Amino acid sequence: MHIPKHLAIIMDGNGRWARNRQLPRLAGHARGVETVRTVVQECARLGVEYLTLYAFSSENWRRPGDEVSGLMSLLAAFLRSELASMQEYGIRLSAIGDLALLPEQSRRVLQETMEATASNDKMVLNLALSYGGRDEIIRAMASIGKKIETAQLSSLQIDEALICDHLDTRSLPDPDLLIRTSGEMRISNFLLWQIAYSELVFTDVLWPDFGVEELHRAIEEFSLRERRFGLTGDQLQTPET
Ligand code: IPE
Ligand code: IPE
Ligand code: MG
Repeated sequence: MHIPKHLAIIMDGNGRWARNRQLPRLAGHARGVETVRTVVQECARLGVEYLTLYAFSSENWRRPGDEVSGLMSLLAAFLRSELASMQEYGIRLSAIGDLALLPEQSRRVLQETMEATASNDKMVLNLALSYGGRDEIIRAMASIGKKIETAQLSSLQIDEALICDHLDTRSLPDPDLLIRTSGEMRISNFLLWQIAYSELVFTDVLWPDFGVEELHRAIEEFSLRERRFGLTGDQLQTPET
């Protein structure tokens, strides 16, 4: 099995999982957190170097207030309860998104956990929180624009590497594999720039039901793909020297 260096996951289907059981949506989110634990530990075990989880989108702010505050509380509780296991597995926490919008308490525990795990080097667990791909690109463009205005940069210096350096993901490689659960076949504003050549795997399994077996199945599917990056299949067989 070829393990992706960077795995990104759109964790979807918590609400439907709860509705199928006549439970409140938050019960689905709570079960979703259990899946996060399982997947994070299995990825660390498999040797995934970067795991990015789409936990809360810039559009998710428009959900009912009690769901939003429930999700923020779950996030803080998850970070507190997982610190010991992140240390044990050598996991460094990072985050992307417009973190300034997070409630004070969640932001604080996020910051503390990132600092506490800063020297771990086995796997990066990167949480996309208050994250939108377009919002990220807007913030990157604004920051480049400001540097041009103040003559720290010239527009002639704009290239792919410069844009990458201004995105929230500046310290991460592009995802090799993107998994979305729950049967939806869309990207929902996740990592728009970064997934240009990622392999996509969609599964009907709802996130609370996703487990080690489904994770292995997705990685096996990824292992069978030929990533051509615009080249021909023959070129990949006999790389030009
Ligand atoms: C994913 O589950 C979690 C978040 C978006 C925060 P959903 O809450 O979107 O679940 P469905 O799509 O309603 O089933
Ligand atoms: C995407 O799921 C966001 C997260 C998983 C955090 P959504 O449930 O918000 O996406 P849509 O609305 O179905 O596209
Ligand atoms: Mg959803």
